Amino acid sequence: MKPFETNQIHSNILKMIGNTPMVELTHLDTGCCRLFVKLELNNPTGSIKDRIALKMIEVAEANGELKPGDTIIEATAGNTGLGLALVAGQKGYPLIIVLPDKMSMEKEYNLRAMGAEVIRTRSDVNKGHPEHYQDLAARLAKEKGAFFVNQFANPANVQAHFETTGPEIWEQTEGTVDAFVCGVGSSGTLSGVGSYLKSKKPDVQMVLADPEGSILAPLHNTGHAPEPGRWLVEGIGEDFIPSICDMDLIDVAYPISDKDAMLTARELLLKEGIMAGSSTGTLLKAALNYCLQQTEPKNVVSLVCDTGNRYLSKLYNDNWMKEKGFL
Ligand SMILES: Cc1ncc(COP(=O)(O)O)c(C=O)c1O
Repeated sequence: MKPFETNQIHSNILKMIGNTPMVELTHLDTGCCRLFVKLELNNPTGSIKDRIALKMIEVAEANGELKPGDTIIEATAGNTGLGLALVAGQKGYPLIIVLPDKMSMEKEYNLRAMGAEVIRTRSDVNKGHPEHYQDLAARLAKEKGAFFVNQFANPANVQAHFETTGPEIWEQTEGTVDAFVCGVGSSGTLSGVGSYLKSKKPDVQMVLADPEGSILAPLHNTGHAPEPGRWLVEGIGEDFIPSICDMDLIDVAYPISDKDAMLTARELLLKEGIMAGSSTGTLLKAALNYCLQQTEPKNVVSLVCDTGNRYLSKLYNDNWMKEKGFL
């Protein structure tokens, strides 16, 4: 059957990944700057990770690493898993997701509903420990002869952002972007968007929004990586430096507390009508800090990384917020 593809109708859900809209935030204090967010929650599974899920699978298929009938395994905070569940589901691959136990139940329910097998593992161990989600996923992939996607070391992750997210930001701002604020989980966003934007305009400032407890902002700011701590924000912050992470792209880095992240995400919903996840709270708090420190007008772009619907039991639940001491 001939694919039906017009401006109005997509021939398949995978064609709806990317090309997300951008909106200006007008009810928050941004000083002399203008702040824009790219709505990655508009991707089919509700996060920025749909982009990399599609690219990593397409590249693995093209280079023969992934063949029909193979099982796919990934270690993820949840969103990459949901993106992979979409792509694997459409293409017919079985999927196993290794998910740290701090991640929300909504993500697990969503993954299972999409047909993925979910294995929960410990959040309180660092990389190198056999129960760390990445170590466990790598071991399982070897045992089962499965394809380990490994977003933390997969160049197709960076490629997805270099080829799509970066150019979209450049075009949507008509080349007027002065600064881009993002977090680092796998670092695909930082490395891909950062290298693209700096190739177009070398003085674009890359601003890292990093949860307190992560080693990345202290490493940038002091030159030394501290002992990793723990944080509640999901999807960003690291206890190691992913091999695809280009730390040299970072110009400014802000450590952001869980409390500031959660409260800023709630403020985004009440003032701007955008229901985002906890990592977006971290990004937005850092973006606002950056804006208020500028003495000349700048166009600052950040992301709404994922939908807040998967955090209803957490940051949008007053009891949870009180339990954690955030309200
Ligand atoms: C939920 C989530 N996961 C991961 C990331 C980080 O992306 P990356 O893995 O490209 O570093 C973000 C935000 O930037 C996010 O919100």
